[in-house]
Amino acid sequence: MRDGEKKSPLWSRGLSARLLVLTAAFVMLSEVLIYVPSIARFRLTFLENRIADAHLASLALKATPDNMISKPLELELLANAMVRGIVLKRREARIMMLMEDMPPKVDAVYDLRGAMAPQLIYDAFVTLAQGRRMLRVHGNFPDHSEGSLEVIVDEAQLHAAMIDYSTNIVKLSLVISLLTAGLVFLSLQLLLVAPMRRITASMVAFRKAPENATAMITESKRGDEIGTAQRELRHMQDDLRAALAQRAHLAALGEAVSKINHDLRNILATAQLVSDRLGDVQDPTVRQVAPRLMRSIDRAIKLCSQSLSFGRADEAAPNPETVALRELAEDAVAYAGLPGDGAITWRNDVPPGLSLHADREQIFRVLMNLARNAIQAMGPDRNGGGELAIKAETAGSNVIIEFSDNGPGLPDKALAHLFEAFTGSARAGGTGLGLAIAKELVVAHGGELSLLKSDGAGTVFRIELPGAPQ
Ligand SMILES: Nc1ncnc2c1ncn2[C@@H]1O[C@H](COP(=O)(O)OP(=O)(O)O)[C@@H](O)[C@H]1O
Ligand SMILES: [Mg+2]
Repeated sequence: MRDGEKKSPLWSRGLSARLLVLTAAFVMLSEVLIYVPSIARFRLTFLENRIADAHLASLALKATPDNMISKPLELELLANAMVRGIVLKRREARIMMLMEDMPPKVDAVYDLRGAMAPQLIYDAFVTLAQGRRMLRVHGNFPDHSEGSLEVIVDEAQLHAAMIDYSTNIVKLSLVISLLTAGLVFLSLQLLLVAPMRRITASMVAFRKAPENATAMITESKRGDEIGTAQRELRHMQDDLRAALAQRAHLAALGEAVSKINHDLRNILATAQLVSDRLGDVQDPTVRQVAPRLMRSIDRAIKLCSQSLSFGRADEAAPNPETVALRELAEDAVAYAGLPGDGAITWRNDVPPGLSLHADREQIFRVLMNLARNAIQAMGPDRNGGGELAIKAETAGSNVIIEFSDNGPGLPDKALAHLFEAFTGSARAGGTGLGLAIAKELVVAHGGELSLLKSDGAGTVFRIELPGAPQ
């Protein structure tokens, strides 16, 4: 876990907890949407039942011969129907009524016949808000026979029933929303959060120890996005592990090669001593093959020493000292084997006295490699001749050296793999290490080696080195 990551309490962390809260809220919201019409319907049903009950009570009245009943029975019928008064009407004429002794004063009149939903909803909320009025309610006969009924209802009873109903709805929706949210939470936990945790845990473990095969995620058969993520992660881990293993093997191989190289160079040096003696043998066959043998051994030794120094197996860090550049260039070109026949002219344009702070030995090798390449390019086997030149100047704290020849320019193969070890050579018997090593040495000084120009008229390499005299 990263340092910056803050720990918040478990419940507020993570996707599933937030979804738990959201789901509960949404279910509550939909319950409210359902509640609004259903409370209106509840009120309507309550009042319709009052009408129906009142109708039943009126039947008792009909059964008597003179439509007359005793007062206590009348009150009991009214109480059973949960109304305070009943009036039966036929064609606007009251034909029968049951009423308490003191008819209550009516506060509001409602007509259930043909009432529309919005009006019913509004009325229901008014009832919820008021709850103490006396209502006169009109309705048709429940048996659809001709005529209508009018009942007086005490709103308090209706109000109490509605409050009861609402409380039940609230309780029910709480239970439903918690249940739904809990189920959503659980399924998210199972389907999303747990697999995501496995993925992140595997990522963290893999980053810490990629070589540990048990840290890799197990491949999943799921067909969804999580399954894809797991499979992709697994492939990535496989690839990465293979690449890491390969890198380790290459490093080991490189080390082995440089050890072999080192020993081989010593063995070849012995062979060189012996082959030198062959030059003294008078046998004509030996005299014929001896120079070729010596050249081959020479080349093998060169390859060994150059590969060794390229692997940096024995390349020391630069050990800077003050170096007089003009003299150093003179030595390097001489060492590179400038032919004595004067076919190649050599111009040293480095200002006398220009010195730089660098590793003498390493800069010598850089210049020598460049010079040798140039001499080879203009050499006799290229029906040669030409001019080899070096110039230098200081630019701020840097020294810029330009090394030019008028040979044929770099062949395409050399250009394509410029400064690449082992692949850059376009010369029979070349190793392709000269420029690669030169570049490495310059870069180790904090400088830059680049090809400035290369065409049929010649080649210019540019070396920029820090460490100019201040
Ligand atoms: N001054 C140059 N003029 C023409 N070709 C060059 C020059 N310097 C380098 N090259 C080409 O670049 C190739 C790579 O050079 P280098 O890295 O020194 O390897 P090697 O000399 O062992 O072939 C050479 O084979 C040669 O073809
Ligand atoms: Mg070379």
